[in-house]
Amino acid sequence: MTSGLKDKRILVGVCGSIAAYKACDLVRRLRKEGADVTVAMTEAATQFVGPTTFAAFTTHPVLVHQFPTDPEQGVPHVEIAEAFDLMVVAPATADILGKAAHAIADDLLSTILNIIDVPILFVPAMNFRMWRNPATQDAVSRLRGWGRRILDPDEGDLATLHVGVGRFPETESILSEIRGMLDIPQLLAGKRVLVTAGPTREPVDPVRFLSNRSSGKMGYALAAAARDFGAEVTLISGPVALDPVPGCRMVPGTTAEEMLAAVMHECGSQDMLIMAAAVADFQPDQARDKKISRSSKPTALSLKPTPDIIKAVRKEYDGTLVAFSLQAGSDLEPARKKLLDKKADYMVVNRYDESGMGFETDMNHVWVLSAAGTEQEIPPDNKLSIAKQILEIIAQDIPQ
Ligand SMILES: Cc1cc2nc3c(=O)[nH]c(=O)nc-3n(C[C@H](O)[C@H](O)[C@H](O)COP(=O)(O)O)c2cc1C
Repeated sequence: MTSGLKDKRILVGVCGSIAAYKACDLVRRLRKEGADVTVAMTEAATQFVGPTTFAAFTTHPVLVHQFPTDPEQGVPHVEIAEAFDLMVVAPATADILGKAAHAIADDLLSTILNIIDVPILFVPAMNFRMWRNPATQDAVSRLRGWGRRILDPDEGDLATLHVGVGRFPETESILSEIRGMLDIPQLLAGKRVLVTAGPTREPVDPVRFLSNRSSGKMGYALAAAARDFGAEVTLISGPVALDPVPGCRMVPGTTAEEMLAAVMHECGSQDMLIMAAAVADFQPDQARDKKISRSSKPTALSLKPTPDIIKAVRKEYDGTLVAFSLQAGSDLEPARKKLLDKKADYMVVNRYDESGMGFETDMNHVWVLSAAGTEQEIPPDNKLSIAKQILEIIAQDIPQ
């Protein structure tokens, strides 16, 4: 699998902001994508997160002191000037922005900022009053004027319980910016992708429902992968025990009918629909208004088919449509028939009878069939990796 950040040398500067702990997630994500990360911290930052944490995440010593106690260590800031592909200061305090804008070099991180010769991204995080302070804004516009990238902070709840502009952005936005600065091609840049995920619940009465064992993990992995490839992602999710995918717009759809309505409402503006939800095939003929009592001794449940979302959406939507099929065994003929019947462009086939794969697990093993007649097997792997490989196959067909 390709990962644009593999072996990129990235220096992360961490400053004394309450958001310093969020740099841990950023560093972990960069490492997970294969980047070689070194962390430099200000003294103030060490009040918020210990250097040991970053040393463990990066497996490199953390740079804090401008004047090393051991003279044999050389002059760290000079050696650093060309040793990286990119520097990201996250979180960037008002203090470091001011220093960088005025060539102040009174500690290791600010000295590095004065000497380093690679693209620099600042990710400010601070109290909303500190952000709108004219001195901070002046520093930001000076730095931007010199070609430094400054990510605007998000608006929302701040650590002090105030609401305003100053929040540290989502890790995903920072990663996207980094990829853009490193000219890493984004497979789905500028594309809009809709993913459905999870099971549906078909009510029997106000307290019971019919559902299935889908965990939603495959659909959530596809949403995360599409986001990582630069797409704007909408994730329509059935009821699952997973955290929302950061950076994706989440839309709930509990029953097959709700999911159908959500898909029809959203599909018009999408470049690709990935229908990974395990939508129930049947629903109770008539959901009861009141809880069915044990004493009524019910013996049968009458069922009717749920709406076929893929067939319904195909009538309205002529972009790339990806369907999923769950089967036993590895005979792909039934899936090929289903692909034609549903008029999908791709059918991703996964099995429910392969130990440790598919439903409720973190692993999968799939085949991607196309309406054009191609057939590709993706060997067992974790679902995020499978998701990326599926998108790499399909993205080639999306008109640019
Ligand atoms: C609890 C606490 C939280 C702080 N959070 C922030 C912050 O989010 N952003 C900021 O710019 N400064 C913040 N500060 C102020 C900085 O820590 C202070 O300006 C410090 O000198 C910055 O040093 P540095 O830029 O060398 O890391 C905070 C201070 C304290 C005590």
